[in-house]
Amino acid sequence: MKILTVLGARPQFIKAAAVSRVLRKTHKVKETIVHTGQHFDQKMSDIFFEEMSIPEPDFNLEINSLGHGAMTGRMMEGIEDILKKESFDLLMVYGDTNSTIAGALAASKLHVPVAHIEAGLRSFNMKMPEEINRILTDRISSLLFCPTATAVQNLRNEGFEHYDCSIIKNGDVMQDAALFYSEMSSSKSTIIQDSQLQDEDFVLVTLHRQENTDDIDKLTSVVSALNQLSKKYRIVFPIHPRTSKRLIENGLNLTFETIEPVGYFDIVELLKQAKLVLTDSGGLQKEAFFFETPCLVMREQTEWVELIEHGYAKLVGAKKELIVDAVDEMAGSNLDYSQNLYGQGKASEIILDSILSLSN
Ligand code: UD1
Ligand code: UDP
Repeated sequence: MKILTVLGARPQFIKAAAVSRVLRKTHKVKETIVHTGQHFDQKMSDIFFEEMSIPEPDFNLEINSLGHGAMTGRMMEGIEDILKKESFDLLMVYGDTNSTIAGALAASKLHVPVAHIEAGLRSFNMKMPEEINRILTDRISSLLFCPTATAVQNLRNEGFEHYDCSIIKNGDVMQDAALFYSEMSSSKSTIIQDSQLQDEDFVLVTLHRQENTDDIDKLTSVVSALNQLSKKYRIVFPIHPRTSKRLIENGLNLTFETIEPVGYFDIVELLKQAKLVLTDSGGLQKEAFFFETPCLVMREQTEWVELIEHGYAKLVGAKKELIVDAVDEMAGSNLDYSQNLYGQGKASEIILDSILSLSN
C-alpha cells in the first residue's frame, strides 16, 4: 500500500513521528512524505525530524509565511503535482492546519482516499481557521481516525454516518509519542539543569493562536498578565515565531526573558517539571495531562473537552485578571491523574491495522 503523508506544522511532526514509526514496521506499507514547508525554522521543523527519527521528507514544497488563501492554494498545487506523477492508495493528513486542508482537498479531487488523523474535533468557533480546516477535511476524508468518544459523537451529530466514510476511534497519537519518547527525553534533554530549574516552581507558557496574537487587545492583556505573574513565578516561555513578530509589530514588551522554541525532548522535560502549564496550544493541553501537570488554557473553547470536564485543565481566555487569579488557584493543585482519556498508547497501531484491512 502506498501512502502519501502531508505535513508541515510543528504539531504534525510530533504526531507523524508516532505514526510513521509504526508504519515503518511493516513492509506492506510504503510511506512517502511531503513537507509543505509551512514551518521552516530549524527549531520549528528540522529539530523534530532529527530528535524523533522521522524519515526525511521526500518532498519539501517550501510554502510558508503567506495569507490563508495563497498558502493553501499553493500547497494544493504542489501536492496535486505529486499525486499526478505517482499513484497513491491513500493520503494521510493530521490535525487542522492549512497543510491539512490543502492535502485533503488536492487528494479528494483526484479521487485519492484521505485518512484524517484527529478527526471529529470541534471547538464550535467558526472564527478559528483551524475549525474551518478540520470540518472541511473531515467531510472529504474516507477514514476518520477519532482520538476521543466526543470526537466520534461530534461526527455522528453532523450526520457523518450517512456519508461514505469509516469512523474509527483510535485514541490519541500524541499519547503514543509522549509514551514512546518520554524516557529518551529524560536521558537526552539537559534543559532543566542548563536553565537551573531543578528547584524552581516555574510556569511553562506557550502562545500562538491567531485569535490571541492578531487581536491587539487580547495580546496586550496576555502580555500584561504574564508580566505580572513573572514577579511571583519564574516563567519559561519558548516563544512561537508568530508571537515574537506580533509583539515587535505592536511594540509590546515582556519584562522577563523568553527562550526560542525548544525541541520535543526539552518540552517534555519542561512539561514534567513545571508547576503549571499556561497555553493556548491544542497539543500542550493534552501533554500537560500526560505528564500530570495542571493546565490553564488561554482560549474561550477547547476541542479537548474531557480535560475540562475532569478538572485537568481550565479555560481562562485572554483576560488578565482571570489568568492571574487562576494561576494562583491552579498552581498548587494536586490532581488524580488515573483517568484514561486518550487510549492506551496504541493509536498508531490501530491506524496501521485499519489501513491494512483496506487492502485485504
Ligand atoms: C499554524 C496553524 C495552527 C497551529 C500552529 C502550530 C494554520 C492556519 N495554523 O499556525 O493551527 O496551531 O501552526 O504551531 O495552519 N513562522 C516563522 N518560522 C516558522 C514558522 C512560522 O517565522 O518556522 C512565522 C511565519 O512566517 C508567519 C507566522 O509565523 O509569519 C505564522 O505562521 P503560520 O504557519 O501561518 O501559522 P501558525 O501561527 O504557525
Ligand atoms: N512544542 C515543542 N516546543 C515548543 C513548543 C511546543 O516541541 O517550544 C510541541 C508541544 O509539546 C506539542 C506541539 O509542539 O507537541 C504543539 O504545537 P503547537 O502548540 O505549535 O500547535 P497546536 O498543538 O496548538 O496546533
